[in-house]
Amino acid sequence: MAATDKGLMHLMTMMLVTPSQHSVSAWRDPLNTPPGFEFSGPEVWQHVARECERGKLDSIFFPDYYAPFDVYGGSTDVTLEEGIQFPTHDPLTVLPLMAGVTERLGLAATMSTTYYHPYMVVRKMSSLDHVTKGRAGWNVVTSFHENEARNFGVEFIPHDERYRRADEFMEVAMKLWQSWDADAVRADPDGMFVDPAKVRPIEHEGEFFSCAGFSPCAPSPQGHPVLFQAGQSPAGRSFAAKWAEATFAIMLNAQQMSAYIAEMGDLAAGHGRDPSQLKYFFGTQPVVGRTAAEAEEKRQAIHERISVEAAMCVISGHTGFDFSSVDPSLPAKEVPNEMPGIQGMWKALLSATESEGEDLSVGEAVRFYARSFLNTSIVGSPKEVAEELITLWEESGATGFLCTPLYYPGAVTDLVDLVIPILQKYKVFRHEYTGATLRDHLSQTKLS
Ligand SMILES: Cc1cc2nc3c(=O)[nH]c(=O)nc-3n(C[C@H](O)[C@H](O)[C@H](O)COP(=O)(O)O)c2cc1C
Repeated sequence: MAATDKGLMHLMTMMLVTPSQHSVSAWRDPLNTPPGFEFSGPEVWQHVARECERGKLDSIFFPDYYAPFDVYGGSTDVTLEEGIQFPTHDPLTVLPLMAGVTERLGLAATMSTTYYHPYMVVRKMSSLDHVTKGRAGWNVVTSFHENEARNFGVEFIPHDERYRRADEFMEVAMKLWQSWDADAVRADPDGMFVDPAKVRPIEHEGEFFSCAGFSPCAPSPQGHPVLFQAGQSPAGRSFAAKWAEATFAIMLNAQQMSAYIAEMGDLAAGHGRDPSQLKYFFGTQPVVGRTAAEAEEKRQAIHERISVEAAMCVISGHTGFDFSSVDPSLPAKEVPNEMPGIQGMWKALLSATESEGEDLSVGEAVRFYARSFLNTSIVGSPKEVAEELITLWEESGATGFLCTPLYYPGAVTDLVDLVIPILQKYKVFRHEYTGATLRDHLSQTKLS
């Protein structure tokens, strides 16, 4: 495999503060969160941070949700019993702990424009950017679970309206981030601390938000956190193309990835942006062993733990369609396609499982989904996994990949110890960080 002139591959881990990551029931396996690494404690997150930085990854990214899945049978029982991305603790509490044990690693998390106020996001993200010395990232989501709205005691806002609201949210946030001149802080013991002439109230009055004042935080090292977005619907893609510095997506193959990149580029140009500035990360689940057989054995052992009921629960949560009354032995293609949740998810699953055979049952299809939530499964020896990542990267035009560990923290260490050295040998991955901030890392195109 030849070195490429496409610059460098960029990698992030994608993890939630929850018992299993993007593989239902992984928490039942002894490889996942072994003793001393409880999901809720600081040890595992500080360890993961050190490992990611040792591997010179661009960043860790924490998705976040504010409610358990409750669509399956209209209940949260299976979500709780099976620990399906639940409990979900607040990633903003672990990011500063991770910052304390690292110097370069990017530290990104989701905050929802539907349940936060822009003033609060600006305050939290600017504070995070300060304590991390410019390593903060924000995944701007609009949220899609109806029970999140119920938990906050508000009406569930319809899909496209959530994006209109998000658009105004970003306007307000940007105004707040620009409400201070870079040299407003004087900190002069004989004079003033902040020069009031260099700080302006934004006085925003809009359809969804009003905000009178200026940011409560001094300008942070990056000015604002790196902005990520993962919308997939037409409204979501347009919003991402307008505001994001990098987007996250889950696509089934290189062709789908490049078609998505082309579309996003056109949308970005339509918003008056230079499309080459937008970066693209696609979800993967690398499972690596010292040999291909060892990797496959680990994958099977964990994936075999997934019950049909647990799988139906997660797909119900994501599609918004209650599978509890669907006979799992029914052919999967007989389930109607129109579902209220994440658009196109069921269709994508049917297409992902095409190779598994025409007469795949609902039970088999949902168990396939619950293995990785359609994050591209890459299983093999270190060389096989590295080469598959490189092929996908070269053929798709992706900036890089989100890697969700099948079991943690071990699979993060495997990535760092076994795969990254091969990517480095092929000269597609950095040996050292050349910059200090997350934005620097994402822009690094040459080997150090
Ligand atoms: C990699 C990735 C990460 C995501 N992270 C979150 C998240 O943390 N919280 C959330 O509510 N939605 C998350 N989503 C869902 C998207 O933000 C989006 O709602 C979903 O893909 C459906 O697209 P749409 O909202 O444009 O219909 C994520 C999606 C992807 C592909």
